[in-house]
Amino acid sequence: MSDDHYFSARPASADERRTISVRLADTDLTLETAPGVFSPGHVDTGTRVLLRTVPDPSGRVLDLGCGWGPITLTAALRSPDATITAVDVNERALDLLCRNVERANAVAPLAPIVAAVPDAVPDDARFDVIWSNPPIRIGKEALHELLMKWLPRLAPGGVAYLVVQKNLGADSLATWLADTGEGTGGWGAVQKVASAKGFRVLRVDAR
Ligand SMILES: C[S@@+](CC[C@H](N)C(=O)[O-])C[C@H]1O[C@@H](n2cnc3c(N)ncnc32)[C@H](O)[C@@H]1O
Repeated sequence: MSDDHYFSARPASADERRTISVRLADTDLTLETAPGVFSPGHVDTGTRVLLRTVPDPSGRVLDLGCGWGPITLTAALRSPDATITAVDVNERALDLLCRNVERANAVAPLAPIVAAVPDAVPDDARFDVIWSNPPIRIGKEALHELLMKWLPRLAPGGVAYLVVQKNLGADSLATWLADTGEGTGGWGAVQKVASAKGFRVLRVDAR
């Protein structure tokens, strides 16, 4: 697999940083991005659909596949009493996320944020809320593996919201989630809670 994917651990493209202006949780921010990470020029449309749909999170929040940080920062701005864990395999993305946390923190109070590669999160960590624009392009098998690793970590009463493009398989993923949750007991009900701009938001309840 090429090192140029946004989900490479160390993207091959030059790490040329630049700033972009974005508005997250009603807050104007100047944030850092770079090539080799997902949607470096703007907040992705699917991410925007997710952020418009989800209620304010509370408790232990996981941003699964955080990229340069739009979901993490929105959660941290909207719920300063929450604690956020931001994970990604892409080390450049994690570095950008940390810089963007510093930038946002200078503008508004943020919830505490821990940024980590997935293997650095303890196996017994549990989450009340998972928000994710998951990496569909890693392939179906790897995506299923990823979801089977993290969705069972929802605490009782917890809820995950995933945004998926319709033409990249949102409906078949919803079917797989419902069948696999029921079959393995790893998680509970699956619902389609929003549909906009070619994306669906799926809600998955804890088992
Ligand atoms: C579609 S992007 C979303 C990025 C960001 N949350 C956003 O909304 O702009 C998915 C992210 O998942 C990351 N990713 C890929 N495989 C992963 C894995 N196994 N564990 C955690 N993150 C992963 C990618 O590097 C990428 O940053």
